[in-house]
Amino acid sequence: MAAQVRSRVAEPFRIHEDVPSTEDTQVNEDIMGMEDYEDDEEMNEQAHTNEEDAQSELSESSEDEAMDTNVQIDMEKLQNCFPGFRQKYRLIKRIGEGTFSTVYKAEDLMYDSYDNSWDIEKENDKWSTPPLVHDQRSHTTQQQQPSRRRKPKFVAIKKIYVTSSPNRIFNELELLHDLRDCPSVCPLITAFRQTDQVIAILPYFRHSDFREYYRDMTPTDTATYLRSLFTALSAVHAHGILHRDIKPTNFLYDPPTRRGVLVDFGLAEREGVDSKPCMCHDGSAVRKQRLRTALALSSGPHNGYPKNDTRPSRRANRAGTRGFRAPEVLFKCTEQTTKIDIWSVGVILLTIMCQRFPFFNSADDVEAMIEIATIFGQRRMKAAGHLHGCVFESNIPTIGSGGFELSRIILWSTCRDEKTEALTPDEAVAVKFLERCLELDPSKRISADEALEHEFLRMGLEDHEGTDQGEEDEMDVVNVDSV
Ligand SMILES: Nc1ncnc2c1ncn2[C@@H]1O[C@H](COP(=O)(O)OP(=O)(O)OP(=O)(O)O)[C@@H](O)[C@H]1O
Ligand SMILES: [Mg+2]
Repeated sequence: MAAQVRSRVAEPFRIHEDVPSTEDTQVNEDIMGMEDYEDDEEMNEQAHTNEEDAQSELSESSEDEAMDTNVQIDMEKLQNCFPGFRQKYRLIKRIGEGTFSTVYKAEDLMYDSYDNSWDIEKENDKWSTPPLVHDQRSHTTQQQQPSRRRKPKFVAIKKIYVTSSPNRIFNELELLHDLRDCPSVCPLITAFRQTDQVIAILPYFRHSDFREYYRDMTPTDTATYLRSLFTALSAVHAHGILHRDIKPTNFLYDPPTRRGVLVDFGLAEREGVDSKPCMCHDGSAVRKQRLRTALALSSGPHNGYPKNDTRPSRRANRAGTRGFRAPEVLFKCTEQTTKIDIWSVGVILLTIMCQRFPFFNSADDVEAMIEIATIFGQRRMKAAGHLHGCVFESNIPTIGSGGFELSRIILWSTCRDEKTEALTPDEAVAVKFLERCLELDPSKRISADEALEHEFLRMGLEDHEGTDQGEEDEMDVVNVDSV
């Protein structure tokens, strides 16, 4: 890999393709016998002596031993794949394995050789200085000089599976490049390609597993968490980009510092690209007219499925994660907007408030619709379908006409008696906000900018002068029975 300056100068994104080199590939230390295998948490807390490093090594080595042999083999392969890898990065461990990539934690060995303006931690943790030796009598020798050692800088190395299409890989990197200055979005430091293997280098962000903290979150904690997530979304959406895969594992949150970053733009896309007009963008009168015509041409709603369906199949982007897909994605809207991300945040909030993860647990899109319909009821679900030219019919007895209020679902899920135990005032504000996120009609759903002004997201902020924009509009119901 050739050296390059990782600056934030505005320039079109391109992947570095280095001239093949034999620099260091022969002098590989064995990853299994890695000398200084350690984690960052303690290192960020205190200065290290060699003794401490040895201690840390000991405790980590058991983790090292426990590390799956396959992981070790993969790490070895990764280091061998990229010439000069070992001079730049010291691979530490695997931190994530997703559908499209494996992510490793590594130390950035050449941090000081580059422009690191992306580094938000830079000012906070420049140097760690071991305690001074107070001995008046001795001369200051080289050995007694406090050795100033910069705290190690960690990166996350995302190894994108070679089976991913080149367009998809390029799309992710290009969007990350476009979003490099956005607050709460994990910036892309650089990327490398070696034949068909691409790795993206991101700053390592310390975070906890959502499952470890979501049950303990107070409404104020939740508001802080969501403020960080909506700050990221506001910037992403201002760039006209849909993330498409908002879920807890893609928002890395560190409860002690109350900071979070949005990662994983693997499914992200630019709004409007690849979309075709959908009737949800027509006015209500036009839509009703079109629905009437369509229904008049067919013989009205059927029970079951037609055996030989001659209607052209409808194609729409349905990428995302089960349980987090917005209703318009399930209804195959061909003109999806940034509002799909807001629905997914709503699902995260519902999860936190109900203390159930995952909240939705469907096996496919039809089941996902049933889950949503059970909560919102037939009437609102039908209206949601009509927005996109779809007819929602169900004879499932558990799907009632009116559905349930979200506040009742929260009370049931948290095992509270709705007659004797009410939501707290803060929870009630959170529910108002939740209703704005889980609005079935995307045009009425709250935007990220509006969310940041909402009373709930201002909770815990010193300045409480914000306005409540949580006004709820009437749902645009098209009554099929009357057309
Ligand atoms: N910058 C980072 N700092 C720390 N950990 C990270 C970072 N980026 C990713 N990770 C870890 O790796 C995991 C997978 O990353 P990412 O979501 O980008 O990959 P993916 O293959 O697209 O995953 P999935 O398909 O599961 O969404 C994350 O959930 C997180 O735990
Ligand atoms: Mg992910």
